[in-house]
Amino acid sequence: MSGEFLIELNDVCKGYDLAGKNRLEILHNVSAGFERNAWNILLGASGSGKTTLLNLIGALEAPDSGTIKFAGEDYKKLMKNASAAADFRNRKIGFIFQNYQLLPEFTILENVLIPAKLAGQPLRKARERAEMLLGSLGLADRLHHRGSELSGGEQQRAAVARALINDPELILADEPTGNLDSQTGEKLLQLFHELAGNHTIIMITHNEALTGYANKVHFLADGRLNEKRISEI
Ligand SMILES: Nc1ncnc2c1ncn2[C@@H]1O[C@H](COP(=O)(O)OP(=O)(O)OP(=O)(O)O)[C@@H](O)[C@H]1O
Ligand SMILES: [Mg+2]
Repeated sequence: MSGEFLIELNDVCKGYDLAGKNRLEILHNVSAGFERNAWNILLGASGSGKTTLLNLIGALEAPDSGTIKFAGEDYKKLMKNASAAADFRNRKIGFIFQNYQLLPEFTILENVLIPAKLAGQPLRKARERAEMLLGSLGLADRLHHRGSELSGGEQQRAAVARALINDPELILADEPTGNLDSQTGEKLLQLFHELAGNHTIIMITHNEALTGYANKVHFLADGRLNEKRISEI
């Protein structure tokens, strides 16, 4: 184990049982390290298992076999019960989901504040940070709109603010620019660039042009993960 990695995977396998069919193996013996304070990009064809891998790293699902460690600690130990797991995820990991997963009946300000409340952050400070984050993402005049009253790109940016409210050490982003125009996407990438100095980012994208921003690029194909030098792309 090396201290330079925030996340380490060793021989991780994951598959799904399909009714009446053979088991679908998605990840085969994936071993990889994700360095601290680095911006990692994860590329791979649709259906190759990128979201599955991110869900494992985010401790939303458990691997069938193999180990995943966060700062040298095995998830099996960190996630010993459901409430410890929820608390760990809420404080340490900011997850920007491919389908946003905002709660539609709450305003976006409320959505962003939920993880802060769960973490016991003082409300006033949390509200200031939420407004700052939403403002920096161009949503200052949408604070009181419900999730269902926002465009796809606005929901995506609100999901970014929610992921960042507790200033997590690890940011997992599943195609966070997928619904943004180039100018808004560029602003978000600038924000990630600033965060990458003292956060670990693992970002899925289909846009190979974004690899120029990253410190490391990982390719997922045939259930295996390979690191590529930027110059090899
Ligand atoms: N709960 C599940 N049960 C059965 N199969 C699943 C389940 N979740 C994912 N899969 C299958 O696993 C494969 C990998 O899915 P995953 O969502 O990880 O792909 P992805 O690389 O994120 O694709 P995309 O780029 O389209 O988002 C897909 O073929 C999918 O159908
Ligand atoms: Mg996906």
